[in-house]
Amino acid sequence: MLVKIQKNYKELSEKAAEILIKEISKNPSIVICFATGSTPPGMYKKLVLAYKKKKIRFSGITSFNLDEYYKIKRKDKNSYCYYMHKILFDKINIKNKNINFLNGEAKNYKKECENYEKKINDKPIDIQILGVGVNGHIAFNEPGSKFNSKTRLVRLSQETIKANSRFFKNKKSMPKKALTMGISTIKKAKKIILLASGEKKAEAIFHLVKGNLDEKWPLTSLKNHNNLVVIIDKKAASLILKKL
Ligand code: GLP
Repeated sequence: MLVKIQKNYKELSEKAAEILIKEISKNPSIVICFATGSTPPGMYKKLVLAYKKKKIRFSGITSFNLDEYYKIKRKDKNSYCYYMHKILFDKINIKNKNINFLNGEAKNYKKECENYEKKINDKPIDIQILGVGVNGHIAFNEPGSKFNSKTRLVRLSQETIKANSRFFKNKKSMPKKALTMGISTIKKAKKIILLASGEKKAEAIFHLVKGNLDEKWPLTSLKNHNNLVVIIDKKAASLILKKL
């Protein structure tokens, strides 16, 4: 595991974008799995800027996304599908046919998850972008998720409902379930870039860097991945720095 500690959120975003820009330039038909939440947007902004400056093109890339609320309409402003289009996809030249999402409207969620697994097996992910929940969740793999889990329907924890309901105008309308790539699905990626910013994430990062493999902290499942880059700011690093 390579841990890069940046001064602040701005520098964290720059570092992450710099790595991605290099990888996309090296391999224009790269497969990237994107993440949502409030941490990656700084990096997405830098990618859009690089595209505008003609440093990179997205016409050959394939995208996946980690998770989606269930049920939610694609057009709902709180869907991750809407988020990705607004923040990134509508601003770059990625081809629509190369964008893959878990469908939060799917009637048959089991089939939807199976198909997503198949799609990922057919187009293996080169780079996986990850954020982390305050409780250590990755995608929507909540504490207690099996490390060998695959893409599936999950119930969100109270902590996640509390943390994410701030994005919903009507808090009660937030779905309490989600479709998520499993931990084993995520770990199949050739390279994983995990981003964390702020003191709220310090405990989770401490478990990742200093702790053992522990299903109570889903992010620790990444400890034995052979190409994991952790990019964090000083606040998220505060506990590992203190206890070094
Ligand atoms: C959501 C997403 C996760 C993300 C997490 C952290 O719960 N499902 O994939 O990592 O939020 O969000 P934030 O970056 O806003 O702290």
